[in-house]
Amino acid sequence: MTQRILLIVSGGIAAYKSLELVRLLRRKGIAVRAVLTESAEKFVTPLSLGVLTEDHVFGQLFDLKEEREIGHIQLSRQADLIVIAPATANILAKMANGIADDLATTILLATDKPVLAVPAMNVRMWHHRATQRNLERLRADGIHIMEPDDGDMACGEYGKGRLPEPEAIAREIERLLALPPLPDPLTDQPDFAPPPNKGGLAGRHVLITAGPTHEPIDPVRFIANRSSGKQGFAIAAAAAQAGARVTLVAGPVALPTPAGVKRVDVETAREMLGAVEAALPADVAIMVAAVADWRTADAVGQKIKKDGSGAPAPLALVENPDILATLGTSSSRPALLIGFAAETQNVTEHAQAKLAKKGADWIVANDVSGDVMGGETNAIHIVTADGVESWADMPKAAVASRLIEKVANVFRAD
Ligand code: CTP
Repeated sequence: MTQRILLIVSGGIAAYKSLELVRLLRRKGIAVRAVLTESAEKFVTPLSLGVLTEDHVFGQLFDLKEEREIGHIQLSRQADLIVIAPATANILAKMANGIADDLATTILLATDKPVLAVPAMNVRMWHHRATQRNLERLRADGIHIMEPDDGDMACGEYGKGRLPEPEAIAREIERLLALPPLPDPLTDQPDFAPPPNKGGLAGRHVLITAGPTHEPIDPVRFIANRSSGKQGFAIAAAAAQAGARVTLVAGPVALPTPAGVKRVDVETAREMLGAVEAALPADVAIMVAAVADWRTADAVGQKIKKDGSGAPAPLALVENPDILATLGTSSSRPALLIGFAAETQNVTEHAQAKLAKKGADWIVANDVSGDVMGGETNAIHIVTADGVESWADMPKAAVASRLIEKVANVFRAD
């Protein structure tokens, strides 16, 4: 089924980038219907947005013809996700206070769909206490917020407040569309408990490792593996969305840092262990990295040359420290310690053995005999002292959000 976005463009110099965003989303097969605020119409025209969305562009509340054909309540419910890009300080302030004085803000108050706000504004407006207070309130209300980029501003100043690149916004939209649908607080949750994945980890520190490690042989060669880092990065993004403070210790991968995540880049297993220990204490540690089990006994400073005899260069290996097992016996062991197990056979049996060997609470086992490493989906088995829970193959972003929901439930139960 085609996925549908309702894109609200509010008035700011970055509004022109919404055109590129629409083009990218349409190319991914996502339908886009657009709403322009009155001030946004000064930056982009309804005509250009209408051509790109191939749909009517909505502008004024109480436009009689529009209200008769498709009312604002209907508009707010017909999308899978509402995206505000760019979101000005003004529209964020209205949202945080429940003000509905035009079509865009009325839709935002009436919707029962997930909402992503992509702020863009002058650096001082971004850092203003009022804006930060509004953002905090919106996050607590379950609104997804993307962090703005740093850089030169249209007004000549420099700093945080630039609209992220349309590619990054499109990626975040795809991630949110892959999440399971939100329960309806009016019908599904009579006790008005916070919906899953919305602030369920607020106040918690989640430490994640991701990607491969590279173990140098000489200045030009290294031992590596096929880990892409995608699953670990998706988990870091989901933990941040759930309100956690997230430290992501990443091996060498070319992936963008998820919004709201503190990233520490490392290369070798020993560097990864050092960065993990420096990031403690943590409430949860999720060790997703495919750490190289061995490194060379002595990486040499000069490139190893063929000696002419035809014999291969000797490569003596020594075992790397096991980061997960080190945390398992550490005096600052996180309350919830989760390991991953990459297996090609007897997946759950091996994972069960690893649970005990590494002192972890859960082992998330995946069969890597297919193209999981570098692929887009993952089928996992969660092995705990209570048994095995198997999940069907699903996109890595969906695995991440369900796993984080399960983690948040542990802390809710406390
Ligand atoms: N791990 C780690 N440090 C290592 C090796 C592995 O922290 N030096 C962690 C991984 O991040 C993962 C878990 O241990 O969470 C399991 O790793 P796996 O790839 O299954 O490897 P091993 O435990 O080394 O087991 P084996 O290679 O024998 O299957």
